[in-house]
Amino acid sequence: GSGKDEKGIGGNLSELEQWEARQIARTKVKVGPQDKGTIPDADAYDFIIDETGIDFVLESTLDPATEADREAQSLLDAAERKQKSIQAVRESLPVYDYRDALLAAIEDHPVLIIEGETGSGKTTQIPQYLYEAGYSKDGRKIGCTQPRRVAAMSVAARVAEEMRVHLGREVGYSIRFEDKTSEKTVVKYMTDGMLLREFLTEPDLDGYSCIMIDEAHERTLSTDILFALIKDITRYRPDLRVLIASATMDAQKFSSYFDDAPIFKIPGRPFPVDIYYTLAPEANYLQAAVTTVLQIHASQPTGDILVFLTGQGEIEQAQELLRQARVALGRRIKDLLVCPIYANLPSDLQAQIFNPTPENARKVVLATNIAETSITIDGIVYVIDPGFQKLKTFDPHTEMESLVVTPCSRNAANQRAGRAGRVGPGKCFRLYTLWAYENELEDHTIPEIQRSNLCMVALQLMSLGINNLVEFDYIDPPSVTTVQKAIGQLYMLGALNAKGEVTKTGRRMAELPLDPKMAKALLASAKYHCSDEIATLCALLDVQSALYYRPKAEKLNAEKAHQNLVQPGGDHFTLLHIWEQWVQLEYSESWCRENYLQRRSLLRATDIREQIVRLLERIEVPLESNPNPADTSGVAKAMLAGYFSNVAQRQRGEDSYKLAKRKETVLVHPSSSLREAKPPWVMYYELVMTSEKFVRVVMEINPEWLIEVAPHEFKPSDIVDKSKQKMPKFLKKARELI
Ligand code: CDP
Ligand code: MG
Repeated sequence: GSGKDEKGIGGNLSELEQWEARQIARTKVKVGPQDKGTIPDADAYDFIIDETGIDFVLESTLDPATEADREAQSLLDAAERKQKSIQAVRESLPVYDYRDALLAAIEDHPVLIIEGETGSGKTTQIPQYLYEAGYSKDGRKIGCTQPRRVAAMSVAARVAEEMRVHLGREVGYSIRFEDKTSEKTVVKYMTDGMLLREFLTEPDLDGYSCIMIDEAHERTLSTDILFALIKDITRYRPDLRVLIASATMDAQKFSSYFDDAPIFKIPGRPFPVDIYYTLAPEANYLQAAVTTVLQIHASQPTGDILVFLTGQGEIEQAQELLRQARVALGRRIKDLLVCPIYANLPSDLQAQIFNPTPENARKVVLATNIAETSITIDGIVYVIDPGFQKLKTFDPHTEMESLVVTPCSRNAANQRAGRAGRVGPGKCFRLYTLWAYENELEDHTIPEIQRSNLCMVALQLMSLGINNLVEFDYIDPPSVTTVQKAIGQLYMLGALNAKGEVTKTGRRMAELPLDPKMAKALLASAKYHCSDEIATLCALLDVQSALYYRPKAEKLNAEKAHQNLVQPGGDHFTLLHIWEQWVQLEYSESWCRENYLQRRSLLRATDIREQIVRLLERIEVPLESNPNPADTSGVAKAMLAGYFSNVAQRQRGEDSYKLAKRKETVLVHPSSSLREAKPPWVMYYELVMTSEKFVRVVMEINPEWLIEVAPHEFKPSDIVDKSKQKMPKFLKKARELI
């Protein structure tokens, strides 16, 4: 053939020109049943897809790897890798080629920034290399932090397997309310929050020879604080090795922060990923995501699908929609294995996503942004990205913290797309337009420290003797208002004295891995002899958002069952009643089902409660149950001692409430049993902003109690009953005359 043919299409173009050519290629595809020939009985899809089918346009291709890279990688296709020995798998990871160079760099530099594609082996391999190189010989540990609980657990399990040891012995993990480590542990994975706690007992981290702050690009609140504390330690512990590991972003910023620490790059070997956009915005991204899953399943070759959703609720909805579709389609389609993954999922179910997909089936992983960088799932070829994430925000002026579904950043979108190119060329379907990608998404997600309540962190730092929180060496500082509010709150809770020093109460509060309000309530429970009840509430409040179960099809039955659990006095007492039943019926599965309660949430609460009961000893609070169960005011007062700033008064003649000492008007959330009763004064657990400002988990209180538990904050004039009309002066006078 001619020379032109040999070079192939685009053979005469430079790499940049090829890239540009791809950029402008606009291949319109309807990812739908147009390839029906390949699927038996594909007509079955029509009723699902024809009406709702989505048109996508191919707009660009991500990460064009070189041909040689691709060949190297294709040797390692998913199925083949499963056959290989663990050692061979380890050797196949990109980081393996850099093992010696990396160890040398670590030896030479006290702080090293490591940048590498997700899946290159940073998290699972580097701590092992350090172990093999003898970093734990003197009995010191190699620590590796993760922003997420799930990642810490699953990675530790994987590494234990690779090292052929029992999880919890040489390799362990530590997350809030669960410590799976032992004396023998030398490789320890933990959440960043747990390492932050360790500073309280070991401020120089003397038990560690090496600390890897992993997933640094996530910029969680705890990671940001760790940066500053660790940077400080390196000044007087020259032996300590610090690794800051991140996906391919922000490395330069980390380097500048750590006094120009060198950057070690691990080149990735990704396959190209074609990126498709919708032609028009999608009104309902959840439905669109489900439709796209079915479209891919009906029309695309083998390969698993990863869908990014914003949280457990959405994941469960999508799971249900897919289940219904599967039932409707019956045996006419190949199997769709639906695997959810999110932070609160029990670990045995989490492990499911790593199981290889059986032949003749397709796996659909429904994930939160946990699958963006912290967890790598092999076999993913298709990514569906609706372009949203759930983000915590904090307004220091109203002190309102809320979880809001917001568009993800461009950075996150590219990370998500990259997940499709691990085992071969992939496709990413963005459920938004190219225009939205270019114009509506922010470059980066705002670091958590700039959108959080800093109360708990402030108490921890001040307990470490760091008093000037405004001048602290933050990589990105929070607003001064947020810092001031946090200090103000700690003062109100009695954790700081008038000089701004941590009090004995404050020190005991800092011992507890709890929000300072909850910690204060637990301390106060000693006075009212009800630490048992407060420990239970503490555990149940932690899981309450995932406690009630209300499937659409059985909505009425579920509501009725939940109604039957309601106790007078408010939602806290309903929670305590649920706990009593749960224990009395010995953790019965059928009782949970009958009452539409999520058993796994109750099991988790059981674990948490056990930990809290153990912590009570540390803070010298005896375990006691309310001596007179008919009188619940002690329990209410103990809670109020922590939550006295979460109080609202009903507005005269209205359904709404006004927050005490603030201007906000709020409503009682429809999920609360006090929604109808509308008592004059309530204490709430949380304030959420959805269509309105709602208070959730609500208890009726007697305002006199406020003066008893927080006399420094509430005076009798603060609690006058505004619902009763005052008698006009002239009338009063007139009466006196009679
Ligand atoms: O940290 P990084 O993203 O660079 O990679 P990693 O998490 O160390 O993952 C390296 C490899 O280990 C990937 O191919 C994963 O599929 C595998 N892995 C696994 O099979 N099970 C886990 N729980 C974690 C990782
Ligand atoms: Mg990792």
